[in-house]
Amino acid sequence: MTNLPTQELENLVDKIRDELGGAEKITDLERLRVAYVGKKGVLTQQLKRVGSLPPDQRPEFGHAVNEAKKTVEALIDERRSLLSDKSISQQLRDERIDETLPGRGSRIGGLHPLSRTMNRLIDIFGKMGFDVADGPEIEDDFHNFEALNIPPNHPARAMHDTFYVAESTLLRTHTSPVQIRYMRDHKPPIRVIAPGRVYRCDSDQTHTPMFHQIEGLAVDENISFADLKGVLITFLRAFFETHLNVRLRPSYFPFTEPSAEVDISCVFCSGKGCRVCKRTGWLEVLGCGMVHPQVFRNVDIDAERYTGFAFGLGVERLTMLRYGVDDLRLFFENDLSFLRQF
Ligand code: PHE
Repeated sequence: MTNLPTQELENLVDKIRDELGGAEKITDLERLRVAYVGKKGVLTQQLKRVGSLPPDQRPEFGHAVNEAKKTVEALIDERRSLLSDKSISQQLRDERIDETLPGRGSRIGGLHPLSRTMNRLIDIFGKMGFDVADGPEIEDDFHNFEALNIPPNHPARAMHDTFYVAESTLLRTHTSPVQIRYMRDHKPPIRVIAPGRVYRCDSDQTHTPMFHQIEGLAVDENISFADLKGVLITFLRAFFETHLNVRLRPSYFPFTEPSAEVDISCVFCSGKGCRVCKRTGWLEVLGCGMVHPQVFRNVDIDAERYTGFAFGLGVERLTMLRYGVDDLRLFFENDLSFLRQF
């Protein structure tokens, strides 16, 4: 009978061993540890029985309880390391990388269609001998209007929907102020284009408050309207890569005289008439003219000796016509599925 408490202990350890064997998770194991060998655990509590035993059995039983606790703790450690090995190998299996799968490949970025057009324009005009000039987007009244023969109260100002930054400081409404800056800094012969952003307080289906223009300017002795026409026809055929027809319509700009608007035969219907050209067979693409003598005087170029031509074209418009883009706003939404088509 003296063996009874120790026997009970052994049975308990056996029971615990079975339970530990069934623990599949570290958290189950932890729960069992607390339940059996924690401070208030079943095994730990056995020590309380020591006092109720005959004195001669006490040391033996106390020792047995401690041994049983050690055994259980060892079993728990063993199980824990087994489970953690298992979970590591499970993780390795789950996270295995299949190096035989084809790679994802990195997508290569591309140029925005407007940049592509800009680059092509610079390239085409470059081949015709035009340098690239630059000017500020925040302009003053003098360069944007006054020097271009657009005095205050001139009706042409009303067409410009100007964003004013201050009294006579504004966001340039066209690239023509670069003409003025360039002619003030350089003596003829001059042959430049000036690409860049321009701003107008206008926003709808076909207008954005910011868009791009390219200004062209040639000044020398004996520059004629025929030179202008030749340069534009050569440029337009190179840009659209087809032998399109070009026509000039008389127009008006304060800084050119005479002035013209340039149409090309519709690139969508070859001039037969379609929705894009509104059944006219023609598409307007740019404005141009011979530099007004007053503009020469404003920049101290001898208007008796020199003549010149200037033109201004919209980069968005040319891009839309070249690539068949029918909504201006697509250029500014940065939708990758649109941009990737270029
Ligand atoms: N600056 C004019 C515009 O924005 C275009 C233009 C430039 C016309 C040069 C003639 C000569 O409408």
